[in-house]
Amino acid sequence: MQVIRSLDEMKEIASALRAEGKATALVPTMGYLHEGHLSLIDLARERCDSVIVSIFVNPIQFGAGEDFEKYPRDLDRDIACCEERGVDWVFAPANEDMFSPDHSTFVEETQVAKVLCGLSRPTHFRGVTTVCLKLFSLCLPAIAVFGQKDAQQVVILKRMAKDLCLPVEILQGSTYREPDGLAMSSRNVHLDEDQRKDALLLSQSLAAGKDLVDQGIRNADRVRAEVAHVLSGGRRIRVIYAEVVDAETMKPLRREIEAGRDLIVVAAWVDSVRLIDNQPL
Ligand code: PAF
Repeated sequence: MQVIRSLDEMKEIASALRAEGKATALVPTMGYLHEGHLSLIDLARERCDSVIVSIFVNPIQFGAGEDFEKYPRDLDRDIACCEERGVDWVFAPANEDMFSPDHSTFVEETQVAKVLCGLSRPTHFRGVTTVCLKLFSLCLPAIAVFGQKDAQQVVILKRMAKDLCLPVEILQGSTYREPDGLAMSSRNVHLDEDQRKDALLLSQSLAAGKDLVDQGIRNADRVRAEVAHVLSGGRRIRVIYAEVVDAETMKPLRREIEAGRDLIVVAAWVDSVRLIDNQPL
C-alpha cells in the first residue's frame, strides 16, 4: 500500500490506472476510521481492481463555530487499518494543497441540500459536493462508496453525478452499528458514558418508528410523533429534526408512508455532539 500526499502524484497514478483499463473504487473519508468505513472498503474491493481511500478532514464542509478543530484525527492508525484491509492507496492531501487561500470555485446541489441538515448547516453540503468533485477529478474512480448513515449526503452526491454527467457510480453501503445499536460515527469518541446512553435513543427512536410501520401504520405524522416521543426521554438530547421523508427528495412526507420508498431520519445534539441516524422503511 502507498500513501500519497501530493495531488499531482495522485492524478498520475489515477490516469495510469485508467490507461491500463483498471476500474478504481474510491472510499472518501475524513479519517478516524471505524468498522463502518472498513465495510465500505470491503464493498469497494468487491467491485473494483484497485481501491483508494481518501483521508481528509474537509474544512469547507464545517461552518463557523462547528467542530473542525475538534474533529478526531489519527492518521497513523488510519493508515495501519487501510493496510490491514488491503487498500491499494491512501490519499491524504494537505489542507493548503486542496484549498489554497485563493480557492474560489464551489459546486452546489440546490434542492436536496436545502432540507434537513441543510437547514441548520447551510454551507455543509456545498463543502461536501465541492470536495467530492475534486476527489473524483484527482482519483478518477469508476465507483465511489459512501455510508447509508449519511443518507442525505448520498442522495445529493447521486444528484451531482447525474446532473453533471460524472463518469462515476455512487454506491451506498449499509450503516454499521455498535452491538447496542448506536450508529458508528467518528464523533462517538466525544461521548462520555452518560451522553452515550442518551445517544442510544436515536437508534431506539428509529426502531420504535419502524415498529409502527411494521404494524401497518402509514400515517407519517403518527410515526414522527412516536420518534420524537422516544427522543424526548433523553435529558441531554436536543432534537434538530425527526422526520419521515421521501428517500429520493429527502422532503418530509405530505402523503402516506410507502414501505420501500421512505426513510425515518433524525438529527440531535447530545450536549455538544451532533449525531444523525436514519432507518429505511
Ligand atoms: O462523509 C464524510 O466523511 C464526508 O462528508 C466526505 C464524504 C468524506 C467528504 O468530506
